Order: sequence, then C-alpha cells, then structure tokens
Amino acid sequence: METCTLSHLLLALNLIHGCWHWTMFKICVSCLSTELNLVEFSEPGIFNYSTLLLSEDKDVLYVGAREAIFELSMTNVSIKNNKVQWKVSENHMTMCIVKGKSKETDCLNYIRVLQVLDDKRLYVCGTHAFQPVCHYLSLKDFSLEGPAEDGRGKCSFDPSQSFTTVMVDGELYSGTSYNFLGSEPIISRYSLSQSLLRTEYSTSWLNEPSFVFADVIREGKNSADGEDDKIYYFFTEVSVEYEFFGKLLIPRIARVCKGDLGGQRTLQKKWTSFLKAKLVCSMPELNFVFNVVNDVFILKTADWKETVIYGVFTSQWGNVGLSAVCAYDMLSVENVFSKGKYMQKATVEQSHTKWVRYNRITPTPRPGACINNHNRLQNISSSLHLPDKTLQFVKDHPLLEDPVLPIGNGPKLITKDVSYTQIAVERVQALDNNLYDVIFTGTDKGILHKSVVYDGLVHTVEEIQLLHNSEPIKTLLLSSQGVSQREIWKETLSHLCLTESEFSSPVTTLKQ
Ligand SMILES: *[C@@H]1O[C@H](CO)[C@@H](O)[C@H](O)[C@H]1NC(C)=O
Ligand SMILES: *[C@@H]1O[C@H](CO)[C@@H](O)[C@H](O)[C@H]1NC(C)=O
Ligand SMILES: *[C@@H]1O[C@H](CO)[C@@H](O)[C@H](O)[C@H]1NC(C)=O
Repeated sequence: METCTLSHLLLALNLIHGCWHWTMFKICVSCLSTELNLVEFSEPGIFNYSTLLLSEDKDVLYVGAREAIFELSMTNVSIKNNKVQWKVSENHMTMCIVKGKSKETDCLNYIRVLQVLDDKRLYVCGTHAFQPVCHYLSLKDFSLEGPAEDGRGKCSFDPSQSFTTVMVDGELYSGTSYNFLGSEPIISRYSLSQSLLRTEYSTSWLNEPSFVFADVIREGKNSADGEDDKIYYFFTEVSVEYEFFGKLLIPRIARVCKGDLGGQRTLQKKWTSFLKAKLVCSMPELNFVFNVVNDVFILKTADWKETVIYGVFTSQWGNVGLSAVCAYDMLSVENVFSKGKYMQKATVEQSHTKWVRYNRITPTPRPGACINNHNRLQNISSSLHLPDKTLQFVKDHPLLEDPVLPIGNGPKLITKDVSYTQIAVERVQALDNNLYDVIFTGTDKGILHKSVVYDGLVHTVEEIQLLHNSEPIKTLLLSSQGVSQREIWKETLSHLCLTESEFSSPVTTLKQ
C-alpha cells in the first residue's frame, strides 16, 4: 500500500473527565507520538484525502478523497458513518488517456468541492478525469443524486492545480481554471437560477493566479446604506504592474458583490463588481517583501468592521527561509475598495506596458462598487442598470493602486527556517477578561505552531511535530464545538505551566 499523505488536520477540543484538552485528528497518518492523542482514519486503496468539510451541528466531518466521499464522526474520526464511491466511467477514462493524461493518477476522480447546500444535501464536485462533474449528495442515504452537472468553472480539471471554493446562500463561488490546459483562470458564481457569472478572460483581471481562499463578509441585515454582502478572494498572481526580469509574484485580495447580475450590454454574464488590490506583507525597514500568500483565515465578528484577516506569507525566493503572519482589519480593506484609486495600463516606449495611477475623473456610480440605497434612489436597482461608462471603466481597470496594508504596518510574526502553509485563528477570552487571538500555523515539514497575540506581538508558545515524515500540512481546520472559551485559556496556560500572573507580565517563559 502506498504511504498516505498525512497532511490534513482537524483541531478539536474535547471534554474528557471534566477538563478540556486538545485533541488532534489526522486523516491517514502512519505514525505519531501518543501523548498528542492522535486518531487516524484511512481506508485501504483510497488516497488523497484532500477536501474537508466540518459540520459541527451534525457532529461530522466530511472528507473528499480520490474516488470516494466519507462521513466521519467529528469527535473520533476513526469512526466511519458513511461512504460513497464515485468513479470515472470507462468512456471518460479513455478520453482522458487519449488526451495524454496518466491513467493511474490524472484520469481518476479527485473530490475537490464539498459544500453544504441545505439540511439534506451537499454539493460535491470532482475533477472526474480532467472533465469536472458535480452532483448532489443526499445526506439521508449518503448517495449521489443525478443527473450529473457540468463542473467547469466550479472545480479544477487538474487535481494538483490551486483551487478555492465557498458556498454562500446556495450559490457556489469558485476560483479555478475553466479549461483542460489550466490556462484560463476564472472566478465564478454558479447558481440554479442564473447562468454562470464569471471574470473576463484577460491578464489584467487574473494573471496566472494561485488561489488560496475565498469567503463571504456579511454586511449585516440592518445596514443603513443598503450595502450588499461581499465575497473576498485571496490569491498570488503574476504582477502586471511592475517591470521585472521574469515573473514577479504579488499577493492579492479581490472581491465581488453577492447581488451582482452582470451588465446589460457591456460585461454581460461577467462580474461588474470585480476589483482587486495588492495585499502587503513586508518589513519596510529592511526592504523585505513577503510576496506569496499561502493561506488566509478570516476571524469573523458580529460586526464586519471588527473582522480581522490573517494571512501566512513566504517569499518567492524560497532560499531566504522566512515566513510571516500578517493581519488586516476589515475596515481598511473596505476603505481601499470603496475609496482607492484605480490603476491604468499605460504603453510606455517600445512594447513595455506597465500600470500607472489613473488620475482623471472616474465615472459614476463608482466602477466596481456594489449596489446600495443611493444607487436605488437613482433607479439603479441592480448591476443590469449600471451605465456602460461605469462598466467599461471597471472592465479596463480592475486593479486598485492603493494596497491593503497590514495592522501595524508589518508582520505580526516572522519565523526563520520555517515555511508556513496553513493558518487558523481562534479568539479566546482570558482570565483577565481580555480577548486574545490564538494562531495555529502549519508548516511544510509537518509542524504545528501555536502562537498568542499579546501586546501587539505574537509569541509562539508551542511547537508540535505532528508528522514524522515531514510532509506539508495542507489543511488546518479548527473546531470549537461546545467550548467554554475561558476554560480553553485555562488549559492553555496550565499546559504551558504558566499561571495567570506570569502570563500578564511580558517576560514569561514564552518561547521565541
Ligand atoms: C475512537 O474509536 C475507536 C473505534 O471505535 C476506538 O477504538 C477508540 O478508542 C476511539 N478513540 C477515542 C479517542 O475516543
Ligand atoms: C495523491 O497522493 C499521492 C500519494 O499518496 C501523491 O503522490 C499525489 O501527489 C497526490 N495527488 C494529488 C493530486 O494530490
Ligand atoms: C425613477 O423611475 C421612476 C419611475 O419610472 C421615475 O418617476 C423617476 O423620475 C426616476 N428617477 C430618477 C432619479 O431617474
């Protein structure tokens, strides 16, 4: 049997004998130290357990693997509740092989989309021998419901290509590629009631992106100005705006509005609200830039204005060996998108093209903005009513000049000789009643770091080697079911052998 990739972790908190303690589950792990209480799951002949979906109210973890989907017990992942197999037909397999792909790897079905549609169904998609296909998965009898739907634009063709997806109110938002070659990047929305809404195929919209994460930020039901909910995407792409020898990578944050319906003439069936900005994580004093975003976690709060975005970054020049955690507050993100200057493509001498700030007057309504009450008063009740001038402008100027800067203007945490691949964050209330952010970061060598934001600085308080064979951690999920936050903190402290008073002084035995 092939060795399993042991790269997907679910952190959970269990109540055992009246005291809280950390339990870590790994999917398909070969060997691990016992004191961590690691529970493993794998099934002979099944590989690539790569997609996880936690359903805390049902107390289950759904796992998308190669040619199979599992439902496991969340509290003990070695308990399998259900399984459904999903193989590729002979026909599809042959077509895939004829196109030059490998029978043993490429031409199989890698489950990459697992999303909750409603109480009774999941929406699932697989690469399906480089011909993505989606199905409804009935939770009642854990079976795939037909007919199969075209998965193009929802799921990648290539199982190893970067990819992100999020389900928002029954609509599937994806960041993937639209063709067999993987050369046509796309950010799209799929829903039953409308046709696919997508990005324009142009390097100024998306230029060889590596998608990392996407999620919705709700405006709140009682938004005074009738603003729309927004879906944010995070990715690293090849810069169009800088002149550089070779490919210069740039971390990006992009967003679209949930209510976008595309344009009437210009941008028909395309986003009218797609805008993107540079996500800065750098040490200006050392002139060092972390230009690759590897993962993002959004710490949501009841009021979106207090939401914090955490990202883990490395540098394109891997030999530097540095990783960083940067944090961004949602209000500054909103400011960039709602007030930022646009960039414009300028042709400078010969064939060099670069982008410069657009300084002239922009059309109204503001290009790329969501529809709000102010627009509605002017009889613009949907993107279909936006004037061509606004639409043409945003089509040509999707890039904002103003970057999104990190809180404190620099990384919260920098580590040497470590490459962070994943991040998850939990906000906990300590005994002093203050809130602290506990950051979990996974590395490319199977190590998990636990760090605490304290006095604006991050202290790494624990380092756990989870995987002996040094494989990268590819998924990190945090479960907080039924947890009293106060209790966790207590346990965190006792685990570190620190007392409350010790912790409140900055000179404690916190590592690093
Ligand atoms: C998980 O379930 C298995 C099989 O039922 C059992 O042997 C094991 O002790 C359980 N582990 C924990 C931590 O509950
Ligand atoms: C699937 O798993 C095998 C090893 O178990 C690994 O070599 C391969 O890269 C994985 N494929 C993908 C697409 O993740
Ligand atoms: C909006 O439409 C209504 C009805 O069609 C019309 O009476 C009104 O003048 C319009 N308002 C604006 C600002 O165009």
